[in-house]
Amino acid sequence: MVSSEAVPFAKTGGLADVAGALPRELANLGHQVRLVIPRYGTIGDRYGFREWKRIEVPGPAGPVPAVIERSVMPGCDVPVLAIRHDHYFNRAGLYGEAGSDYPDNLDRFAFFCQAVMELVPLLSRGEGEGGEADGGGWTPDLLHAHDWQTALVPVYRRTLYAGQPALAKLRSLFTVHNMGYQGLFPASAYPKTGLGWEWFTPQWLEFYGQLNLLKGGLVSADWLTTVSPTYSREIQTAELGFGLEGVVLERRDRVVGIVNGIDVDQWNPATDPHLPARYSPRDLSGKRTCKEALQREMSLPVRDVPLVGIVSRLSWQKGLDLLAEALPALMNRDLQLVLLGTGEPALEAQFRALRDRFPKQLGLRIGFDEGLAHRIEAGADLFLMPSRYEPCGLTQLASLRYGTVPVVRRTGGLADTVVPYGAGTGSEGPATGFQFQDATPDSLREAVELALLVYADRDRWLKLIRAGMETDVSWAKSARAYAGLYRRMLEGKPRDG
Ligand code: ADP
Ligand code: GLC
Repeated sequence: MVSSEAVPFAKTGGLADVAGALPRELANLGHQVRLVIPRYGTIGDRYGFREWKRIEVPGPAGPVPAVIERSVMPGCDVPVLAIRHDHYFNRAGLYGEAGSDYPDNLDRFAFFCQAVMELVPLLSRGEGEGGEADGGGWTPDLLHAHDWQTALVPVYRRTLYAGQPALAKLRSLFTVHNMGYQGLFPASAYPKTGLGWEWFTPQWLEFYGQLNLLKGGLVSADWLTTVSPTYSREIQTAELGFGLEGVVLERRDRVVGIVNGIDVDQWNPATDPHLPARYSPRDLSGKRTCKEALQREMSLPVRDVPLVGIVSRLSWQKGLDLLAEALPALMNRDLQLVLLGTGEPALEAQFRALRDRFPKQLGLRIGFDEGLAHRIEAGADLFLMPSRYEPCGLTQLASLRYGTVPVVRRTGGLADTVVPYGAGTGSEGPATGFQFQDATPDSLREAVELALLVYADRDRWLKLIRAGMETDVSWAKSARAYAGLYRRMLEGKPRDG
């Protein structure tokens, strides 16, 4: 499993949650998994990484040294290999700082991907990897890479490394978590990949004159997945394919949508150490304590009033500009709203101004705060996600588990994981939340208003809460789906170079 971020080592978003949870679930199913990540300086000394090997990674300007460090995932024995090259990864951010990408991201992630390819044969040669389960030599069947940062892994598998006997049987799976981030670089930077110009074609890595790493992953991997069935269809359309819909369409018989789960131990209202009180579907009294504490923490009046929560990156994708527009009208209702998020400076400023205008109704925290994210999931009554698009979304899954009723736009994984109120109970089971169709401030407001109507009817509301809390949002089912796909991939032949 190759990822540029994974909980608990490094995180900017949901990819880290997935890469942190899926390996463990696969291990629980009896698979042998190794996770490979960059050795970011921010990881520090906390996780016991120790030098395992020194290698040289061939680069366009000559070999670049890397140290492979090794540790295990906390709480399970999945080995983690971290590629260390301090010049690239010992920085304050993962991909950039203060809203700007690092200018050498192509060098950094091409290096990382190529280091992974160099690492694989070392594992199989059994040079004392030291894992108890496998006693040394270990040959992976499959490489699973995620998003643009690791898209060169399947590309290298079929190009630079196609002739290597040790890698010949290796299948590759590429998971797209977000088509909106493609890893685009100018053609002049292309040589940094180490690839010959024969791969800089519209069939491969070229995209309207630029280098497109995500496209490379899409065209080269044996199979593709994305993080919900609805999103797997949406990325085949011009609206949400971000220009790559044709590429996905061409490979549609190799695209599978598998919805994410969440770590149900980490997100458990009955045991969550971040909460001032705990609760369960049988006894919800602690949720009230959480709500009052949250109102206090966010400097809002402690009152019995519907409380809407949001935890989100502040980006166009998440539709929070729609909320900003709808907010003044919403504030005519007797409700409170708390928002935790960070991202686009313009949106941050817009919400700061709204907080100053509605200080008794809007609680705002600009920043990244794990504990507060948990306290909002627990303390709010409703959880709002007006996303323009949402490949899967994890926060609505946590909100279901915390009895905080999601109000979501009907898109991607939100459409797949929230059963809408009022849609009749078909095979999907009882309603667990609210959906709205149009990405407009009015539709958003109407959905919140419908939710408020139902909220006023305690029995109906409790039914929604309980149905949400009883929904299985764990990784178990999804991990089995990945394992099934892996098996299917091993039965088929790898694509050749
Ligand atoms: P995305 O990956 O698109 O940002 P997801 O819903 O898949 O969206 O995952 C977001 C993850 O990041 C969740 O685990 C959420 O709790 C967390 N998160 C997002 N913003 C913040 C924040 N400001 N503070 C703490 N956690 C956050
Ligand atoms: C991306 C998507 C989000 C998804 C996450 C994990 O960041 O924006 O919808 O949940 O990846 O797959």
